[in-house]
Amino acid sequence: MNDKPIGIFDSGVGGTSIWKEIHKLMPNEDTIYLADSKNAPYGEKTKAEILDLSIKNTELLLGKGCKLIVVACNTATTNAIAYLRKNYDLPFIGIEPAIKPAALQSSSKNIGVLATKGTLASDLFYVTSKNHASGISIIVKEGTGLVPLVESGKVDTKETEELLRKYLNPMLQKNIDHLVLGCTHYPYLIPVLKKILPDSVKIIDSGQAVAKQTLHILVQNNLRFQEDRVSNHSFYSNLDPAVLAGFLMEEKASCATSYLDF
Ligand code: DGL
Repeated sequence: MNDKPIGIFDSGVGGTSIWKEIHKLMPNEDTIYLADSKNAPYGEKTKAEILDLSIKNTELLLGKGCKLIVVACNTATTNAIAYLRKNYDLPFIGIEPAIKPAALQSSSKNIGVLATKGTLASDLFYVTSKNHASGISIIVKEGTGLVPLVESGKVDTKETEELLRKYLNPMLQKNIDHLVLGCTHYPYLIPVLKKILPDSVKIIDSGQAVAKQTLHILVQNNLRFQEDRVSNHSFYSNLDPAVLAGFLMEEKASCATSYLDF
């Protein structure tokens, strides 16, 4: 079982930001990545639709023999991970907006959260905000339109910068000192975000924390592959594998991207 791959899925290319952290921490682990770009953005769908898509992705990764699944999507995690954990007999790692560290570190007691509509409307987001940010004012903003821009490779464009300014200005007016990135597509926007945000605003992204948690759960379940090897990585997109490949260009590992109808 230990030599089986780690499965990772997202509504599209954004979860590659998580894959990179996982691969950096555990270079000998094989992985299978699903980019459900045909159905992006998940953030504009209903909870029932997000659940159905998450089940579909999980079944596919299970069929490919994965030993653990990383839900590399805040929207799918906050709406579906409880169901997945209850109904499938393998470990799931999720990602949700890192409100807790931002709240703990904030001096101005004002933090911003940029996430999808689906994440911000979820019960899990509500509970986490309530439990981990008492005495903190959270300024939330739906990042409508950002996922399609990243999906079409329009990362550092004027259009993207203007949209981000529109979402961030109200947060800056409220004196935020931390911005939580609540969507795995958004780390690709960090160069543009840095043009807009003053240095005093710290950007919080949970990619590294997810990779560490993945390692911890693999070890705890005796699933960690122990030997050195050149690992294999299959990336599947149900829309355009060339776009997905564009997000993996700098990787030294062999990352085969292909089309799969799912
Ligand atoms: N990467 C997904 C997330 O982390 C994007 C969701 C979407 O497709 O709207 O939420």
